[in-house]
Amino acid sequence: MAQVTAPDETIELYRRHLSTGRAALSRLLGDIVETASNGVWVTAAGGRRFLDFGGYGVFILGHRHPRVIEAVHRQLDLHPLATRVFAEPVTARAAEALAAVTPPGLDYVHFVNSGTEATETAIKLARAHGRTALVSARSGFHGKTIGALSVTANPLYQQPFAPLLTETTHVGYGDAAELRAALAERPGRACVVLEPVQGEGGVVVPPRGYLRAVADACAEYGALLVVDEIQTGLGRLGSWWGVEDEGVVPDMLLTGKGLSGGVVPVAAMVARADVYEPFGRDPFLHSSTFGGSPLACAAALATIQVLQEEDLVHRAAKIGARLLAEVRRTCERHAPGRVTEVRGRGLLIGLEFATQADVGELVLDLLARGVLVNHSLNASRVLRLTPPAVLEESDLAFFHEAFDSALRAVVSRA
Ligand SMILES: Cc1ncc(COP(=O)(O)O)c(C=O)c1O
Repeated sequence: MAQVTAPDETIELYRRHLSTGRAALSRLLGDIVETASNGVWVTAAGGRRFLDFGGYGVFILGHRHPRVIEAVHRQLDLHPLATRVFAEPVTARAAEALAAVTPPGLDYVHFVNSGTEATETAIKLARAHGRTALVSARSGFHGKTIGALSVTANPLYQQPFAPLLTETTHVGYGDAAELRAALAERPGRACVVLEPVQGEGGVVVPPRGYLRAVADACAEYGALLVVDEIQTGLGRLGSWWGVEDEGVVPDMLLTGKGLSGGVVPVAAMVARADVYEPFGRDPFLHSSTFGGSPLACAAALATIQVLQEEDLVHRAAKIGARLLAEVRRTCERHAPGRVTEVRGRGLLIGLEFATQADVGELVLDLLARGVLVNHSLNASRVLRLTPPAVLEESDLAFFHEAFDSALRAVVSRA
């Protein structure tokens, strides 16, 4: 069969077989069709290259990190999918490695294929403990399957699929008192699902002490605490996990995105032994055919090793601090009033604009200069930067030059 690489043909196939909306978006973005990637760069048909500061937080190791590629190739040649009848060593090693880097006491791992499945796993496990009342934060993002969508408090995504899970309450993010009040009304019945920094919500960093206050309230009212680190974890915030700062150990922690090494989709729910017990006792209570495949676990294991051996968590903190300061300076210089705030932690940085239109324009202007960035799904006025931790000085220089001139171009047009 002929390989399809011509941009027009690809977009036409999108229009006919995938999504007319995606096809229209591709047209708007200039008919770019991505075909290859390496490190921090993505290559499009025709040879144009883009520095990837987007990827929705997946590419903490960049694209096709050689160590992950090697591990995945090896596994592909050996045993990519298990029978699921026998035990299998790569999955066991990946679980050991993940438990070793998660907060103390989180020892049991349930691997899945996507972030939303990790959220579903946590919701089901909480229900197995009688915690059926879900409490999450407005503008939070936890995935789009029905259970996860019930805690993803954005009416835009929820309303077309209502009714969702009942007994779901949404509170203001960062407001520990409101959360405490919600738990007080549901003693012994609640499960709290929260991000340590809201990613899709527009890079919202909560006030200091918030997570600690949440954990204390959960303990007081017998609620289970699920911390969703799918976007924030594995170094993205310049620490292994966002909960670390305040010494919080949740009952369950969710990870995904970066765990893939940017190569094979994989996510996980990691829990304390006593919380995990219903799944531990009966491995068929919650299972999936492809979850925890040797191929995905080879990627996850290699990813954790690379993060450790290349000191990338520390590197994310260092590069992130510099990037944030420089982006802030550029915005203050060229767009005071147009960019209302630049905020973030590590390599999760948000630029809040006064209008949504400016975000769209800047995305296009950056693309024209060879830089790929994302908007935020739950905050249309926030442009997000989620670059890899393997960035080199020359990549940073490329970004700053493109960003400076793209921002000036956007501001000059209004
Ligand atoms: C914090 C958070 N949780 C869950 C998800 C859902 O992950 P997935 O898209 O892999 O289902 C996302 C995706 O953006 C996320 O940012």
